[in-house]
Amino acid sequence: MRLAYVQFAPALADLEATIERLRPLLEQCEGADLIVLPELCNSGYNFSGRDRAMAAAEQFGRSRFIEFLVGYCRKYDCHIVSGFNELDGDSLYNTAVLVGPDGPLGRYRKLHLFKDEKDIFTPGNLGLPVFDCGPVKIGMLVCFDWIFPEAWRVLMLKGAEIICHPANLVLPGLAQRAVPVHAMMNRVFVVTANRVGREGPLTFTGMSLIADPLGRVLAVAPQEGPHTAVVEIDPQQARDKMITTRNHLIADRRPAEYAALVEKPA
Ligand code: ACM
Repeated sequence: MRLAYVQFAPALADLEATIERLRPLLEQCEGADLIVLPELCNSGYNFSGRDRAMAAAEQFGRSRFIEFLVGYCRKYDCHIVSGFNELDGDSLYNTAVLVGPDGPLGRYRKLHLFKDEKDIFTPGNLGLPVFDCGPVKIGMLVCFDWIFPEAWRVLMLKGAEIICHPANLVLPGLAQRAVPVHAMMNRVFVVTANRVGREGPLTFTGMSLIADPLGRVLAVAPQEGPHTAVVEIDPQQARDKMITTRNHLIADRRPAEYAALVEKPA
């Protein structure tokens, strides 16, 4: 199968402008089976307040942006994971959606909010779901989730073979160094689709990437400017959890020794 990312700059609070920017970039991904787009792709990121973020948000079941993505998936028989500014009742979530030719298949709401996101979004309340997507199992994380190894581990233990990671990364280089290691430590494929450009004081760091289960970087984007990559992979590689002939990544774990991971700090 073929994995792809689209790196670009969504237009802040201007969905139609974002769609027009995205259209030619998605066309460059023709032939991909799964395409990953950046975080908060339908709205942009750096809102001056919650009201402005809310005005640019959409409902999961009634979204012009998702409708646009489904149209592309129908045309090219593929799936897309995208960041999505989601309005649900009075709450906003920093969500990742998985859509296909028949419509949306699922969503994940960012668990670990970064800096001022805490003033705007509600922390995720849908856990860490894994979705069947044709022959592969897909998990999703959003941007700053990258620094929590527990989240990657849970997705792998639930069977995720490809972890899609829409991002708006601002800390230079850190996630881009860590993501291939998470891929290696969990023996999964990872697609990080980061954004570029500036919004107010924030500069987004690009360098979107696709990493394989051995931590090898199969594609990487420049730090600036729009970029796409389409890479052929064999998902079977993510199902082989043997590290040596006598070491299995899951069977060799010692969960009884890991209780501290789930204890609440005093
Ligand atoms: C981030 O989580 N958008 C840095």
